[in-house]
Amino acid sequence: MAKLADKVALITGAGSGIGRESALRMAKEGAAVMCADRDVEGAETTAGFIQNSGGKAGVLELDVTQEKSVAAALTTTTSELGGLDIIFNNAGVAGAGFGWDTTIAVNLTGVYHGLFHGAPFLADHGGGVIINTASVAGLVGLTSVAQTEELPEGAGAYVAAKHGVVGLTKQYAVTFGPRGVRVNAIAPGYIETPMTAPARDIDGAISYLESLHPIGRLGQPEEIASAAAFLASDDASFITGVVLPVDGGYTAR
Ligand SMILES: NC(=O)c1ccc[n+]([C@@H]2O[C@H](COP(=O)([O-])OP(=O)(O)OC[C@H]3O[C@@H](n4cnc5c(N)ncnc54)[C@H](O)[C@@H]3O)[C@@H](O)[C@H]2O)c1
Repeated sequence: MAKLADKVALITGAGSGIGRESALRMAKEGAAVMCADRDVEGAETTAGFIQNSGGKAGVLELDVTQEKSVAAALTTTTSELGGLDIIFNNAGVAGAGFGWDTTIAVNLTGVYHGLFHGAPFLADHGGGVIINTASVAGLVGLTSVAQTEELPEGAGAYVAAKHGVVGLTKQYAVTFGPRGVRVNAIAPGYIETPMTAPARDIDGAISYLESLHPIGRLGQPEEIASAAAFLASDDASFITGVVLPVDGGYTAR
């Protein structure tokens, strides 16, 4: 039987990269998926892929920095797709080019909105699962892709936000475990998505980035999606409060 049969998932940042692949994978595992993104066209494309392969999907234009919109997304998903079992707080921006306030607003406060409203919502509706996208930058500091000694642009905010996501994951797992809500995070290494395209374009960056991952290559969004589908499923029924590195060994040394 499909791992997520009869489940309903709300995925933020579902219009691209990790969120899109996770939406496709969860749908393949039997879930109905609400594809939420600030980029509504991206979300529509993802939902179209799911519908064209016989799955059930909805589309929601959502900016995770807007608390009321995140709260409303829970009831919209429930009324449009018939329930809500899985919330994947995945939307994020690269630190570079966005500055402190925006990076914290999207990558940390956006996840907080999903937890603050999502955890009690799931608890009040029979329990569920929350997954947050952290990063290796939630576990360790980053080095410069340009291989200079400078602090990489945006790294302070990105690392602070992702470490915050790790803390929130543990806190919400502790508080909501007794109420039937599991809360975990995934910490991806460098994954080939539109977010990392500018970094990969820097001279020498790809071989440098590959060298940071003992497996010797960058990751694919499908590899994060399979971890998300696992954590969302009953196969992970005794797993809560963990931060799962899916990083080709990046944080192993
Ligand atoms: N790609 C990597 O190497 C990598 C590594 C570690 C962690 N991550 C994290 O994974 C998550 C997904 O990143 P990705 O690589 O798929 O990037 P991506 O740029 O391909 O996708 C991010 C999506 O989030 C959406 N988004 C951005 N701000 C939003 C907002 N305020 N509200 C709603 N949606 C918003 C974008 O429109 C986009 O569709 C992010 O949280 C990112 O920090 C990525």
